[in-house]
Amino acid sequence: MVNRKFLSRLLVGLLILTIAGSVGVVYFGYFQTVNAGLTFSNALHVPPILDPELENGEKVYTFSLQKGNHAFIDGQPTATLGFNGDYLGPTIKVDAGDLVRFNITNELDEVSTVHWHGMHVPPEMDGTPHQPIAVGETWQPYYEIKNEASTMWYHPHTHGRTAHQSYFGLAAFFIIEDDNSKSLAIPQTYGVDDFPLAVQDRRFTDTGDLFYPATGNAFLGDSVVVNGTYAPQLTVAGKRIRLRLLNGSNSRIFRFAFSDGRTFHQIATDGGLLAAPVALDQVKLSPGERAEIVVDFSDNTDVKLISLPDTNLLAMAENAFEGDSGRFDILQINVQPTDDVSPELPSVLNVINGWDESEVDRVRTMRLAGQMSQDANAAADSAIGSGRQIPINGKLMNMARVDEVVTLGDIEIWEITNMGGVPHPFHVHDVQFLVVDRDGDAPPANEQGWKDTTLINAGETVRIIAQFTDFASEDVPYMYHCHIMEHEDNGMMGQFTVVEPDSALAGSDGYMLELNAELHGEMEH
Ligand code: C2O
Ligand code: CU
Ligand code: CU
Repeated sequence: MVNRKFLSRLLVGLLILTIAGSVGVVYFGYFQTVNAGLTFSNALHVPPILDPELENGEKVYTFSLQKGNHAFIDGQPTATLGFNGDYLGPTIKVDAGDLVRFNITNELDEVSTVHWHGMHVPPEMDGTPHQPIAVGETWQPYYEIKNEASTMWYHPHTHGRTAHQSYFGLAAFFIIEDDNSKSLAIPQTYGVDDFPLAVQDRRFTDTGDLFYPATGNAFLGDSVVVNGTYAPQLTVAGKRIRLRLLNGSNSRIFRFAFSDGRTFHQIATDGGLLAAPVALDQVKLSPGERAEIVVDFSDNTDVKLISLPDTNLLAMAENAFEGDSGRFDILQINVQPTDDVSPELPSVLNVINGWDESEVDRVRTMRLAGQMSQDANAAADSAIGSGRQIPINGKLMNMARVDEVVTLGDIEIWEITNMGGVPHPFHVHDVQFLVVDRDGDAPPANEQGWKDTTLINAGETVRIIAQFTDFASEDVPYMYHCHIMEHEDNGMMGQFTVVEPDSALAGSDGYMLELNAELHGEMEH
């Protein structure tokens, strides 16, 4: 027999527990700094710029994927991975229009790939699971730099192993300049007044070893490293300084701000300069996203770069374990007075030519999370999945399946709805897109620029618009996926091809690829 009184007591009890839990989360997230008590005194590592060889009008870059040892904490070395070094890798810095070629050797003991995140390159050069670099082999991609001035990055895209390989250190910057960016009165001397900051949350054992679980879902660390430096410190001149922020975490969302709440200006999004600087006191970046900001230090006041927790208390309570909570100290910035006076920021930075909705050739819908389709064709291929599998349009990543077929030259709107309870950063290869709207509202000013990754909040519908130009192939797909790397590895990814307008496949709803035996073999790593 169920006692009414008992039931209502139980309900009240549950309610109190829920409230207490939320208060706990709010306290921990908002008032408590997760990595409190550190002295930020390790000189920030600034990745060196990789020098190319000049051959027949091409810039040729040679580097390798290596195993290494890197001491993050108190000189205690831990096993890591890096490009040409122990952890992370050199910055590639090019001009728009350059012809580049690479010799990339895999010195790891597992298959890998190198993907040029954000860049408009042919699908055969994109460094996806379709271009594996076997152990001991050298991959030689080449392409023209077709993107405008921007902060891109490169990292592995290995089938089912992206999260692991990136976490242990395979990630680096790819910076593009162009005539416009060079002509602007903005800080642009690398390592002097223009710093790349790859910000990554990590977890360490008591003996200073990098900890990463063998299987799992969205990984969250309780420490933050910048360019591989633990508890870093950077000394800058007391003038305007440009920071190229990359959220290189596997899953954590950062809300970058300064400890004194100062205003700064965002000047660029993922794929280029904004039309005009946007004044902000915080900028939110999910994994994969970049923001270039300019900070005025002419007040000669030392300050910390920090990350704020979500101000939406309900969201924060809900997301406590899903990457969107927690306050972190990130980088101590010490300011040295200078006689140099920076010019005012230009009021015009760029011209962004978008498209009108009347020009749109096709609208596609993408359902993130939600129901798995029962269709056998929706399943993941065998090499994937070590945690919770989250579908896109009811399907999990399958390397042999092309999910969407785009006609070369078309302008498309993708309407992306997050049916799940946690945010997912959605990334599209090949193109830079513009955010049309979020739940029908224009995006904030600092999001009105070129993007390749954008956060889709729980329950939200975001429309993006892009044109698919230059490169077509029926055989080699590009990807779209959640950039929470564990979600990506667990199948939250799909494939699209761009085909010629006269292709028999143009306008079709997808098809199966015949993967060669070598690719199938690599998939089983
Ligand atoms: Cu940054 Cu498909 O990846
Ligand atoms: Cu990418
Ligand atoms: Cu996700």
